[in-house]
Amino acid sequence: MDITAKSKTTDIKFDVETIRKDFPILYTQVNGHPLVYFDNAATSQKPLVVINAIEEYYKATNSNVHRGLHYLSNKATNEFEESRKIVAAHLNASHDEIIYTRGTTESINLVAFSFGEAFVKSGDEIIISYMEHHSNIVPWQMLCERKGASLKVIPITEKGELKLDEYKKLLSSKTKLVAVTHVSNTLGTINPVEEIIEAAHAKNIPVLLDGAQAVPHLKIDVKKLDVDFYCFSGHKVFGPTGIGILYGKTKWLNQMPPYQGGGEMIKEVTFEKTTYNDAPLRFEAGTPNIEASIVLAKAINYINGIGLDAIATYEHELLQYGTEKLQQINGVRLIGTAAHKSSVISFVVDGTHPSDIGILLDKQGVAVRTGHHCTQPLVGFYKIPGTVRASFAFYNTFEEIDIFVKALNKAISMLR
Ligand code: ALA
Repeated sequence: MDITAKSKTTDIKFDVETIRKDFPILYTQVNGHPLVYFDNAATSQKPLVVINAIEEYYKATNSNVHRGLHYLSNKATNEFEESRKIVAAHLNASHDEIIYTRGTTESINLVAFSFGEAFVKSGDEIIISYMEHHSNIVPWQMLCERKGASLKVIPITEKGELKLDEYKKLLSSKTKLVAVTHVSNTLGTINPVEEIIEAAHAKNIPVLLDGAQAVPHLKIDVKKLDVDFYCFSGHKVFGPTGIGILYGKTKWLNQMPPYQGGGEMIKEVTFEKTTYNDAPLRFEAGTPNIEASIVLAKAINYINGIGLDAIATYEHELLQYGTEKLQQINGVRLIGTAAHKSSVISFVVDGTHPSDIGILLDKQGVAVRTGHHCTQPLVGFYKIPGTVRASFAFYNTFEEIDIFVKALNKAISMLR
């Protein structure tokens, strides 16, 4: 397969052929076809630098962190904290504003519990949006149930854009937090987070952004955004599973009670009373996922080596190319046509079920996600059972889109 693809419309040099050699899994054969991996919004594939670093960690570093005086413990602790610094620099945050979690879901649950304990009471309100992933709905519902607070939902347009005027009307003295996704996993919409934050801050309301689908594609500067909390997952940014990040402003973190109790999060324990560590360790009870924390920095260094500007430009071209191709297929309806989108294309095909399309694409080597994508209220808004979702990463090619479109046409003709 010829996978050479330079940017079609700009001078930017993007050597996808060389990049693909870093990802051995992309050379898998599926049902006698070369794999076309278009399920990057679910999880990304890993470059060799990440795969090798996992092996290297267990060969040369494995030990517990912040708990020993011996050589290996110091080595593991240094690498663990160096990785935190790399994550912090990547987001333009300070080292002590970066908390290791299991993933975006745990980061949001941590804030919902801990911020909720400190600041939310009966009668208060939390604002989310119609396009949230379940992980940015359910933790807030659980908080509202615990505290007698209520959830307010920003409506969306048919194109899949937030109705900002309606959002601004929802902001009130009862609002304790706004929690919205930066980029929609189902629609690909890139939300106008600067405007969302500015409107909330004008009323002294903090904002949490779910960045799970943004960090793999966009440069994030938490200081410039002035966001209060930012969450993302390692596995979506070409790193390991089981590791995530919560960025929080120190002014909030140090007012929030711990999320879990245990080792590392304490200053002193007696049977009468325990005093807690400062952030970030206050929120890192128990032995963390040391290997994944260390390897996450390798993934971040890798994408920075390519450059997020180059990645965003190339992926936008893939998005445009794929969108144009799909629009030419009779009966295909795109779900999510916002003006600003990341490289996600969701669609339905008249007279077919998304799962049937997904199965027939898989038979031809093409991996997509089908269903509600953990956004049941959103697919309910469109009155559909779900979508077929193709989501691209920087190692995908225009030729793969051609293969996908051909496979889709074949699937549709079989189903009709
Ligand atoms: N949140 C991931 C997705 O959208 C799993 O597929």
